[in-house]
Amino acid sequence: MTGPGPVAEERAERIEVDGSTAVVTGAASGIGRAISGDLLARGATVVLADVESDALERTVGELAADHGADHVLGVRTDVTDETSVHDLAERTYTGFGSCDLLFLNAGVTSGGGGLPWQQEPNDWRWCFGVNVFGVAIGVSEFVPRMLAAGTPAQVVVTSSKDGGIAPVATASVYAASKAAITCFTEALQLNLRTADGDVGASVFYPSGGLIDSGLYTAARNRPDHLQRRGAGTGRSGWTFDQLVEQVTRARGTPPPIADLGQLARTAVDGASERRFVIGTELDQSAELLHRRADAIGRGELPPAHQLGI
Ligand SMILES: NC(=O)c1ccc[n+]([C@@H]2O[C@H](COP(=O)([O-])OP(=O)(O)OC[C@H]3O[C@@H](n4cnc5c(N)ncnc54)[C@H](O)[C@@H]3O)[C@@H](O)[C@H]2O)c1
Repeated sequence: MTGPGPVAEERAERIEVDGSTAVVTGAASGIGRAISGDLLARGATVVLADVESDALERTVGELAADHGADHVLGVRTDVTDETSVHDLAERTYTGFGSCDLLFLNAGVTSGGGGLPWQQEPNDWRWCFGVNVFGVAIGVSEFVPRMLAAGTPAQVVVTSSKDGGIAPVATASVYAASKAAITCFTEALQLNLRTADGDVGASVFYPSGGLIDSGLYTAARNRPDHLQRRGAGTGRSGWTFDQLVEQVTRARGTPPPIADLGQLARTAVDGASERRFVIGTELDQSAELLHRRADAIGRGELPPAHQLGI
């Protein structure tokens, strides 16, 4: 039986990071690794989940050396596979008894780049498998346990302004996946507000400049059965350096590069403060959304998101 749940004022205003247990998917590299390091520095115990075994082992070893092995656990996890995510949840609850902060952060590009009609079904399957089903499975495995625990807990979904706010024209599949999880996270929070328990959801928009992470080599984790089949359809994605070059040419000046440590602090602060939208330069996103709404109101194509501009 689910009742109407605690009224808003009975819900905790914040979640203390110190002493909490956090789970981070896509934690072996980039943003997830930075979030894990920030959580550990603030006194959390962190379960790092990632599909890339070697990178995960390396990251766990380095973070354990810095913060103590008792507070770091690595669990090789494929977020597209419900058995694997079920095992992650079991190991988290068996080992530490709770999950107070859940960062559903694992993500990939579609690998296809290029024009929407050059995307292959396998580009969609891989990208939506990780970015959309990965979030859906994480929510299905963890949220019922988090609600049942009755303690304050927060789920943070890493979306992207590319798709979550407006598409970058050359990233159609990726943008569509991020639009999907932004919408899903909003629906999740609408329902959590009235559910029994004290779980909240947040959507995180990494920003602060171009982000030098492993996203540009995401294909390193693309499974064999989801490889592109056709030759010469679309192009492979940009490397980070190519992207910087491209954006510099469009802007006439080099773009800012995001500070991963600052990005992680923003994510963890936002989770702890239980903000629904976590990010920086949100005023710029709002301005773009106003222009998009006006265009839609006129029945016209809304303006797109421009990377690094
Ligand atoms: N880099 C950017 O510019 C940017 C901007 C906005 C949003 N994001 C989002 O941030 C998140 C983190 O990306 P990043 O930029 O740190 O890239 P990254 O490649 O450095 O990190 C992503 C991690 O996800 C892992 N992963 C991939 N497939 C997985 C699977 N099936 N199961 C479990 N783990 C898997 C990878 O091994 C990797 O460690 C992603 O959701 C990405 O879409 C990135």
